[in-house]
Amino acid sequence: MVNHQEHEVSNGVVLIAFGGPSSSGKTTVARTIQSLIPQKTKLIHLDDFYLTDSKIPIDSKTGYQNWDCPEALDFKKFKKYLVGLKNGEEPISVESIQPKDTDLKLNEEESSQIRHVIDSNLKKFDNKKIVFVDGFMLFHDPSIIKLFDISLFFHATFDTLKTRRDARKGYNTAEGFWVDPPNYFKSIVWPAYEESHKHLFIDDDINKNLKPDLLKTYKIKELNNGESQNLFSLVTNALNFIIDNL
Ligand SMILES: Nc1ncnc2c1ncn2[C@@H]1O[C@H](COP(=O)(O)OP(=O)(O)OP(=O)(O)O)[C@@H](O)[C@H]1O
Ligand SMILES: [Mg+2]
Repeated sequence: MVNHQEHEVSNGVVLIAFGGPSSSGKTTVARTIQSLIPQKTKLIHLDDFYLTDSKIPIDSKTGYQNWDCPEALDFKKFKKYLVGLKNGEEPISVESIQPKDTDLKLNEEESSQIRHVIDSNLKKFDNKKIVFVDGFMLFHDPSIIKLFDISLFFHATFDTLKTRRDARKGYNTAEGFWVDPPNYFKSIVWPAYEESHKHLFIDDDINKNLKPDLLKTYKIKELNNGESQNLFSLVTNALNFIIDNL
């Protein structure tokens, strides 16, 4: 079994994973926290490491491109990038094609309460380079989870995630824009998540809790972003876990 000591030496670089299935709120929460601590943190996105559009695997059942399996991403480049960051190397420049804004925002009062939490813990951020890594495929492979010092695992039920995903216009891709074809969440997104992540859950059932030993081993915090969850409590829980583990 792996333990904390096996996290690689970090040079004051703290890599924080914002992982979990599509539409679970990773980008929203990561961007919200990052925007409140811009000088101390940097945000990168796994979605900037997709293969070019014509190289995305085709699902044999539906004939659709499968943007949700690990093979759609350049993990060799991604891992090299993360290891470089951890070793304090100046990273190769990766042009981000992710939207800079979020649909869901904190109100003024909520933002000022979160700022207060940050200000009261500023010492924790001193002498550290904190990198938030946002991605839907950060935990499927032990060689990747192990690179993170702190991990946040966002999730919600099939119905909630499907509703949120269906409401989205689409995604910027390396060469264009992707719009889900009919039934895409049920036939591609959820099965790909289940296939790649089930081994992390009790009884290999993604509707159950994560295996408790994994939570400890990899410093993972589960964050349920269900239907009635609000952004403020999600951000508060994520931030408190980060601060406690810095
Ligand atoms: N608690 C919530 N209540 C209402 N809407 C939410 C909530 N959390 C997220 N959303 C909405 O769901 C959508 C997906 O959120 P977000 O983009 O943060 O997900 P994601 O995990 O980054 O997904 P992906 O992996 O597909 O990029 C967004 O439109 C966001 O505003
Ligand atoms: Mg996202």
